[in-house]
Amino acid sequence: MSAGAPVRHLYVHLPFCASRCGYCDFVTVVGRGGQHRAYVDALLAELSLERGVLAPRLESVFLGGGTPTFTTPAELRRLLGALPPAEEVTVEANPETVTPGVGALLRDGGVTRVSLGAQSFQPRLLSMLERGAGPDDVRRAVYALRDVGFDNISLDLVYGIPSQSAADLDADLSEALALEPEHLSCYELEAKRGTRFTHAHGAELARQAEAMESYFERVVARVTGAGFRWYETANFCRLPQLADGRDLRSRHNLAYWRSRDYLGLGIGAVSTIHGRRWRTTPRLGAYLAALAAGERPPREVEELSAPVRRSERVLLGLRLDEPLALEPGLERAVDWSAVERLERLGLVESGRSTDGTLALTTHGRFLGGGVTAELLA
Ligand SMILES: C[S@@+](CC[C@H](N)C(=O)[O-])C[C@H]1O[C@@H](n2cnc3c(N)ncnc32)[C@H](O)[C@@H]1O
Ligand code: SF4
Repeated sequence: MSAGAPVRHLYVHLPFCASRCGYCDFVTVVGRGGQHRAYVDALLAELSLERGVLAPRLESVFLGGGTPTFTTPAELRRLLGALPPAEEVTVEANPETVTPGVGALLRDGGVTRVSLGAQSFQPRLLSMLERGAGPDDVRRAVYALRDVGFDNISLDLVYGIPSQSAADLDADLSEALALEPEHLSCYELEAKRGTRFTHAHGAELARQAEAMESYFERVVARVTGAGFRWYETANFCRLPQLADGRDLRSRHNLAYWRSRDYLGLGIGAVSTIHGRRWRTTPRLGAYLAALAAGERPPREVEELSAPVRRSERVLLGLRLDEPLALEPGLERAVDWSAVERLERLGLVESGRSTDGTLALTTHGRFLGGGVTAELLA
């Protein structure tokens, strides 16, 4: 398993949350303070089983959730102290969990970047999302993180919340930008199958789907107008000239979009390494029991064929604002007659015969996945 290039990106899943938000289908576990220690033991056991595939020094570590900052502080500290060093270490945090003490714990644990789930600044929309944090909690969290020295903070927003007007969206963007984050992620709210939210509001989300195109354009216009680079479909970062020359793109997520290999630890975590992808069991009990017995947890494994890998490379790579380099073999993933057609429509720019690249135009990026799906062979 350790044959092949060493893996430089590590995802660690911390599933615990104070409560479950109705729209969320991530692998989460409510409460269970009594099991946080056993879970961190299991994560560290899993890390030692898989460590052979990792490079000695990583490019990125990402602790996602769940709510990593809901994990008992002693366990979060222990975990951070045992993870391999990395140039970028991101932790996802819910605003209401970020106290000055948690901020200091993250900083002392080597975290370089915090991604805060703000979602909205409108109390009525936050309560529709069943969020535990109000707008003041988001502001307090940002100030607490700044106070302990964090200079790389990302905010997550969602748009398309039922009853959210264009003015509500503008207000959310203004509130978020006023906090001067280094990075913003703006996601269209998705109706995830089987969630309470989809049950209650799914029909409304489907009805408003068309209006969401203009909301997306509004987000891009407002955020780029404020000096951010629209570097991925849903992601923006402050331009280097506004950020002391720093490249503030998420290195971890860039690795996904560039189809780099990554190791995922924890329940429900996905890994893609040397042409294989596996998803670890989402069941906490089965995960803890296997690792306590010194065994790998149950996983679903998929062998990725070369054509599948090439298609993914194109689908993900074209989400970025940088042209996709048509590495040897990648040309075969593309339907070149579709490219010609899409080029005439002003959606794609092909540099196949010049610099060997492919990119979406701005118009093409607004249409996103639809365009990319069309140009796959
Ligand atoms: C792992 S999740 C949650 C992290 C953190 N626990 C929180 O709630 O802020 C990361 C992000 O995914 C986005 N997200 C979650 N569910 C979504 C949905 N149904 N549609 C669109 N975005 C969603 C949210 O913006 C969220 O901040
Ligand atoms: S949205 Fe975040 S806080 Fe809410 S249940 Fe999902 S992971 Fe937990």
